[in-house]
Amino acid sequence: MLFGKKKSVAGLDIGSSSIKLVELEGKLNNLNLVGIGYENLPDTAIVEGQIMELNTVAEAIQSAFQTNQIKADQVITGVSGYSVIVKTIVLPPMSQEELEESIVWHAEEQLGFRSSEVNFDYHITEQTPEYTKVLIAACRKERIEILKQAIQFAGKQPSAIDVDTFALQNCYEVNYQPYETDVVALLNIGASTTNVNIVRGVTSLFMRDITMGGNQFTDALQKGLGISFQQAEAIKRGVRNQSQGFDEQTILNLLEPTMEYLAMEIQRTFDFFRASEEGYNTNVQKILISGGGSKLARLPEYLSSKLELPVEVLDPFRQIKVNTKKFDPDYLSEIMPEMALAVGLAIRGV
Ligand SMILES: Nc1ncnc2c1ncn2[C@@H]1O[C@H](COP(=O)(O)OP(=O)(O)OP(=O)(O)O)[C@@H](O)[C@H]1O
Ligand SMILES: [Mg+2]
Repeated sequence: MLFGKKKSVAGLDIGSSSIKLVELEGKLNNLNLVGIGYENLPDTAIVEGQIMELNTVAEAIQSAFQTNQIKADQVITGVSGYSVIVKTIVLPPMSQEELEESIVWHAEEQLGFRSSEVNFDYHITEQTPEYTKVLIAACRKERIEILKQAIQFAGKQPSAIDVDTFALQNCYEVNYQPYETDVVALLNIGASTTNVNIVRGVTSLFMRDITMGGNQFTDALQKGLGISFQQAEAIKRGVRNQSQGFDEQTILNLLEPTMEYLAMEIQRTFDFFRASEEGYNTNVQKILISGGGSKLARLPEYLSSKLELPVEVLDPFRQIKVNTKKFDPDYLSEIMPEMALAVGLAIRGV
């Protein structure tokens, strides 16, 4: 470029408990970490996936950029939860042009939304002489609008909005370069939502969002021990001086029913998958976990024994070059599970 600077795009994950920001540069097979940001949000800012305090969220976004000197002026963010529908529909064989003309009608008819109320995107996943399979992602318009506003209030430009589970898959594909026969379940355990995406090779076979996450563990401790949410949160995270007075076994006993519930919901997701056309005769071989909720002590082992599958922590920087002079490796490995989505979003931007 002779004049001006190249536009760079950062990945921004607006979670209900915190904001995660990642900037990458380079090509897909040669990525470098340029910047990373993390800002906590008060629990009143985003409730049930909805932004309630626009200014608080915008300020946190701005701060994530400023504190970490992230220069990107455009961002890609993601959506998940109940305002998002992702579904494959099967249509008669047709050309790309025919599909373009009729997709709105088919989507409305098969997914039961009104195109005036949602933003949607689609792409052909399979084309045979008998049928055309189309993956559709739709999100309520007001959800998209408020996300855009939060980003604009923070002084940035929203360049695209992705679906969280797709971004997670992106992160996995680039970092793990799976074989066509690999079948893994990607799990992102957040504060209030757990995204599940079952992927074979680089194809998503099944997705589901479970409406529970790390908050439920904190709730269990808060109620069981009669303490504040903040205290319960600290004990859950294993902050030593906070757990004085409560022995480890008591804490474990209080956490276990929630672990069991999560394992059951994941099992249910696998059962739905097995009952679907894509999942018939297909076994999940491994679970890769991410999200802050996955850092709960003993959770990986617990899930592994309940679900009888190996459980590994997804490393979002596995194939990304990180300058250890600029980024403290200890800090990075501590926040690594939370960064998976933001890395996946950032990958879309390069
Ligand atoms: N060391 C830890 N031990 C246990 N839980 C932890 C630990 N660190 C963070 N968490 C939990 O992780 C959750 C936050 O994870 P994350 O940042 O992925 O969620 P989020 O993106 O803000 O939420 P969501 O995606 O559900 O909107 C919180 O429930 C927090 O208590
Ligand atoms: Mg999240």
